[in-house]
Amino acid sequence: MKTPLSDTLKRLVGQGVDAIDTPALVVDLDAMRRNLSRMADFARKHDIRWRPHAKMHKSSALAKLQMQAGAVGVCVQKTAEAEAMVAGGVYNVYISNEVIAPHKLARVAALAHAVAAENGQLAIAVDSMEGVTLLAQAMNDHRAAKGGAAAVIDVFVEIDVGQGRCGVTPGRAAVALAHEIRKHAALRFAGLQAYHGRAQHLRGAQERREAIAMVVQDVLYTRKLVEAEGIPVELITGAGTGSLVLEAASGAFGELQAGSFMFMDADYARNERDPAQPQFEHALFVKTQVISSGVQHAVCDAGHKSHAIDSGLPRVHALEGEAELEYFNGGDEHGILKPVAGSTRLPPIGRTLWLIPGHCDPTVNLHDAMVGVAGGLKAGKVERIIRVDARGALT
Ligand SMILES: Cc1ncc(COP(=O)(O)O)c(C=O)c1O
Repeated sequence: MKTPLSDTLKRLVGQGVDAIDTPALVVDLDAMRRNLSRMADFARKHDIRWRPHAKMHKSSALAKLQMQAGAVGVCVQKTAEAEAMVAGGVYNVYISNEVIAPHKLARVAALAHAVAAENGQLAIAVDSMEGVTLLAQAMNDHRAAKGGAAAVIDVFVEIDVGQGRCGVTPGRAAVALAHEIRKHAALRFAGLQAYHGRAQHLRGAQERREAIAMVVQDVLYTRKLVEAEGIPVELITGAGTGSLVLEAASGAFGELQAGSFMFMDADYARNERDPAQPQFEHALFVKTQVISSGVQHAVCDAGHKSHAIDSGLPRVHALEGEAELEYFNGGDEHGILKPVAGSTRLPPIGRTLWLIPGHCDPTVNLHDAMVGVAGGLKAGKVERIIRVDARGALT
């Protein structure tokens, strides 16, 4: 999975931003660090754990940075992402997703034992009896085949709190799964997973409040039923960047999984900000260059092979004194730039532009590495190259 970083990339460290070839994925490290410390302060103030979603940055180096800033570990969505994190030295990982294939569960079991050997912990979500049985089988098979100390994997029961994706209906079905998990010595019932993805992108703060109020009802109802059977629900985990203030204020959730806050994409910037939400800044950019300029439009060298467009086209980030431009789809390798209403100014050929991707997660997955810049996009220097270790880790 690990592609070696090219010498060209490595040689960039210490050089000015002008030296970064285009198109390139660039992280404004100062903005990223501010986002991280705002999140850490927020979590501290609300006395809540945070376990950022590493599906967003797919980098074990950034996961370690998040843990240094106070995160308890990271979430991932895929077994292969978990493997990339562990290979990079991140030993507290939660696969917040269902894994069913026995050959994948064998990898999960191997990871659970590998992190246990490092005093770490692996966790996973389930939403079916089959999932529990197959997971227990994989853990037992691993132990039988390899011997050594027995590891225990933390298991969260996922409830569907409105997204209509994975998860059992809140209530009795979760109780049955909790009982089932507790039958297996290699599994530990760790609590409930309750994530409402669609609520993250509801534009109005009030709409999000209403959606998460329903989530909290489902969570409290389910927790009550599980605890009525004498099974403690130690932790309820969930939340994304759009709603984290609501889960944090609910008193029900003990852990926040938000990931995008660290890079903040153009789509999240379209949400009306809840006044309680920390002010997260854009920290992820595609550096691009104008390669053609006409009367009505200019063209840059970043198309949708450089950035994902599932959540809309990128926004052009105008630096001080620069004309405001709008980005239109020019295909795989091109972006079409037009002046925003009221202006006629087009950038000249050769001009550097900075795009704010519509959606950070799938944008990162298009790149082998991110170029970390400190000191600003205008006059900053390349401080480090951040490998996207889990790029393409889809299985
Ligand atoms: C299960 C789960 N938790 C948390 C998140 C993090 O959300 P965000 O990156 O929007 O903050 C996601 C994102 O899709 C997710 O699927």
